[in-house]
Amino acid sequence: MKIVFATNNAHKLAEVRQILGQQFQVVGLADIGCTEDIPETADTLEGNALQKARYVKEHYGLDCFADDTGLEVEALGGAPGVHTARYAELAGEGDSHSSDANMRLLLRKLEKYNNRNARFRTVIALLYQGEEYLFEGICEGTILTERHGTEGFGYDPVFQPKGYDRCFAQMTADEKNAISHRGRATQKLAEFLKNS
Ligand code: IMP
Repeated sequence: MKIVFATNNAHKLAEVRQILGQQFQVVGLADIGCTEDIPETADTLEGNALQKARYVKEHYGLDCFADDTGLEVEALGGAPGVHTARYAELAGEGDSHSSDANMRLLLRKLEKYNNRNARFRTVIALLYQGEEYLFEGICEGTILTERHGTEGFGYDPVFQPKGYDRCFAQMTADEKNAISHRGRATQKLAEFLKNS
């Protein structure tokens, strides 16, 4: 079965393909000729995921899913949350989507706190056969005081999932997918699609 994943991120596409397996042909935005920047202007993860999926359905007429992820840090009242990708940029401290600047800002903000609890939360919105569905995946963990590892992307070098002594950037893709926020949300999506 062919389905569009509304992303241009090759890393995410590979992660999701690995989880959904051979049964699904997951194509990205580039594969359907969508080169425009899809608006993400909602103030919740759910809102942004739905906005992206609806855009693809409206403009390309294809069933599709889209995701949005936020890092929710307890001591920061749930920030950066829906602003995770542009955390440093919105604070005037870095280029758009710069993981380096984002992690630098996060580590600085947390310097004065002992509580370093955080969680990644992913919401996937699916538009399928005329209906809308939401799937959520959560990965609890802590923010380290410095960066470790070389794998992954984004905040992986500073996020250590609960119950592990290594951060995401020190795990293989398989290890991370099995416990990650996006992995969990994608498992729920896969179960739904396989049963429908
Ligand atoms: P997006 O909604 O998936 O684009 O995620 C928003 C931002 O969260 C990204 O720009 C990354 O900085 C961060 N992020 C999302 N997923 C991960 C992950 O698995 N590891 C580390 N950072 C992530």
